[in-house]
Amino acid sequence: MGDIPLGKSTMLDAMCSRELAPLFWRPVRLGITSAWWEHVPFAHWLVASIRPRSIVELGTHNGVSYSAFCEAVVREGLDTQCSAVDTWLGDEHAGRYSEGVYAELRTFHDSRYGSFSTLVRSTFDEALGYFPDCSIDLLHIDGLHTYDAVRHDFESWLPKLTDRAVVLFHDINVRANDFGVWKVWSELQERYPSFTFTHGHGLGVLAVGKAVPAAARQLCSIDDDSRVNSIRERFALVGERWNVEFRDAQRVAEIGRLALMVDDLNAQMQGRIAHADQLERALKEVNAIEANRTEEAASLRTQLAEVEAARKTLHDALQEQTERGDALAARVDELKAWGDDLLATNQTLRAELVDLRRAPERTDIQELRQELEQHKKQQDALHAEISGLRGRSRLG
Ligand SMILES: C[S@@+](CC[C@H](N)C(=O)[O-])C[C@H]1O[C@@H](n2cnc3c(N)ncnc32)[C@H](O)[C@@H]1O
Repeated sequence: MGDIPLGKSTMLDAMCSRELAPLFWRPVRLGITSAWWEHVPFAHWLVASIRPRSIVELGTHNGVSYSAFCEAVVREGLDTQCSAVDTWLGDEHAGRYSEGVYAELRTFHDSRYGSFSTLVRSTFDEALGYFPDCSIDLLHIDGLHTYDAVRHDFESWLPKLTDRAVVLFHDINVRANDFGVWKVWSELQERYPSFTFTHGHGLGVLAVGKAVPAAARQLCSIDDDSRVNSIRERFALVGERWNVEFRDAQRVAEIGRLALMVDDLNAQMQGRIAHADQLERALKEVNAIEANRTEEAASLRTQLAEVEAARKTLHDALQEQTERGDALAARVDELKAWGDDLLATNQTLRAELVDLRRAPERTDIQELRQELEQHKKQQDALHAEISGLRGRSRLG
């Protein structure tokens, strides 16, 4: 693609220049999670500008930075060998992630960059053996971010770099959570020409080779603060766009996730409403049964009270009968004693009568007879009363 001639407008000429085009390329991994989004335009520009013969990345994860390098190779039609090294298991800072991350990247990568790029699934140290010394023009170090790890990665891969080599370090502006890239970076800045981007967690550009291509050499030799700031701000601004888009994609995904949750909760709620209706119906049935039982209990209580009253009446009647029976029995005993008395008197009189019969005075006999007759009557009356009382006492 050549420059579009626009007459005398230098600004419009600059806007349409081929050199500037990589800053406006649309990234290909949009929507994928990464802390690298704000540096994608710079990666596009750097590769298009320094045209490396080989690129190696240490730490690829979802492949956002690596795809930016590879995309520039494709768009610029470069003859570049690219390699991404990662265990694709994660680490203490990136976290441990699932096997799906590697599988998804592999599918994307193979169809798009398979002809010039390799995913090397190993540790950085194990991968050293696959790369000859002095073979790498662009190295991106983005593995574990502790001071020791970054220092080790830089030093162990240093012999692999060519005299045109540029090395990128991500996260040079992070000081939290045991990150130590900033410290390695401050040490290396003393030894090599460099440029520091502070946005997007910080990206360090180190011109390690003695003969780095002009674009990188110029970038790393700017000593005018206003130019440094202007380059930082403009790259930050174009990079921010992709970060915003990434956040939007995250929000859309989150909204989708929440919408699914809402659907799920709605379904659960419907289920609970149906269940509540069921319970309400069951409760009504139970209430009706309970009302019946209360009625039955009240009726039973009434019946019980009636039975109790009847029992009391019977008890009182029995008590009365018993008392009457006792009184009658006492009277019987009394009469019996009187009867016994009469019987004794009767016998005495009979004896006297016998004696008198033997005697001559008739008048005495007559009197005794009358007296005896009277006693007999009294005795009969007494017997009649006793048997009358016995009959009543049996009936009572
Ligand atoms: C911060 S992430 C890389 C981010 C990626 N450059 C991007 O564009 O989003 C760091 C990655 O380095 C990998 N890693 C860390 N130390 C490693 C080691 N010694 N060997 C291989 N992979 C390692 C982890 O598995 C993780 O995927």
